[in-house]
Amino acid sequence: MTHADAFILIDRVSKFFGAFQAVDEISIDIGKGEFFSLLGASGCGKTTLLRMLAGFESTTKGEIYIDGQPMSDVPPHRRPVNMVFQSYAIFPHLSVADNIAYGLRKKKLPRAKRREMVDEMLELIKLPGYGDRKATQLSGGQRQRIALARALILRPKVLLLDEPLGALDKQLREQMQLELRALQRQVGITFVFVTHDQEEALTLSDRIAVMAGGKVLQVDTPEGLYESPKTRAVASFIGNMNFFPATVRRNGAASAAIEAEGLGTFPMPIENITQPDGAPVQVALRPEKFSLTPEKPDTAHAVAGKVCEAAYLGERSHFHVAIEGKETPIAVSTPNQSRGGREAREQGIGAQVWLSWSPESIVILQGD
Ligand SMILES: Nc1ncnc2c1ncn2[C@@H]1O[C@H](COP(=O)(O)OP(=O)(O)OP(=O)(O)O)[C@@H](O)[C@H]1O
Ligand SMILES: [Mg+2]
Repeated sequence: MTHADAFILIDRVSKFFGAFQAVDEISIDIGKGEFFSLLGASGCGKTTLLRMLAGFESTTKGEIYIDGQPMSDVPPHRRPVNMVFQSYAIFPHLSVADNIAYGLRKKKLPRAKRREMVDEMLELIKLPGYGDRKATQLSGGQRQRIALARALILRPKVLLLDEPLGALDKQLREQMQLELRALQRQVGITFVFVTHDQEEALTLSDRIAVMAGGKVLQVDTPEGLYESPKTRAVASFIGNMNFFPATVRRNGAASAAIEAEGLGTFPMPIENITQPDGAPVQVALRPEKFSLTPEKPDTAHAVAGKVCEAAYLGERSHFHVAIEGKETPIAVSTPNQSRGGREAREQGIGAQVWLSWSPESIVILQGD
């Protein structure tokens, strides 16, 4: 996406609280109708960035544009955004219908029209007929849906959601994730969604910004982040990863190879390598990219090892395999229909196995 067609443009935005910098020169472009997530550990600046989008917090430096308009002089209630908070602030003394219609109270709408809009929202959040209930007579998940309906009824161009599913148990949370995604597709509103749960971000998002220490480390699609993380920090934040110290080997200008601890030397497409000959690099390989077999496989990209941990997880098994020349064992994850995984498990700890991989699965990371 280019700057020109960004619907939300966060342009070199910083935020200081006194001397403390909570947000450090963040630039992000978000497209119209996108489900965009901010993902990062506690304290990395997610809520602060969201509050600046909503206008509850000013930017210290930089500018936020929504639909082409600079936002710094626009107060929260004049921005085309609405925010859903982690603690679902619904009013316990009001009915479900009055909670949903709360934001409409200043608009002079005929009673019938208001009722029609509320009923439409109750359909959308799959709670038809719940309008006359008291808000206190609802489950946590239902309350969360009411909070969403209350934000959506105002038809904002952008919905900001700060860990809206944080208070729900795992099962309800997963169900609500699917509903939220379906709802977003249906209404076509741009969502900016904050979470510290990587699985949730992968499930829901079109694109994700991975944040740490007030900075954005990488913005990418879920697949891009998982398959092609740029740095060790991103690679270890999303899923499990094996890391190998390695050295760049160049043979003239046309070809290059990587010599990785424990994995040996293998050719790499020259365009993937920017470092000079002899440069130290980190390479990474996901646990499920390894094949585990009892016999030596018919490939040059294989190494012998010994199982030092084995865990059965139903659908998959996880192993730690010690190999020659590498201090930390390699994490391997195999689906349980595979013969190799089953045999290794049956042989248990101490089993002699072979690990093989395809060099295309190897990711070269920036920095060391
Ligand atoms: N009003 C404030 N005054 C001073 N420091 C603040 C203020 N608000 C936030 N901070 C600090 O800014 C940093 C980022 O806070 P923020 O709330 O944005 O984190 P977060 O990523 O949302 O974390 P969490 O996942 O725990 O909600 C934290 O170190 C926090 O202590
Ligand atoms: Mg927060």
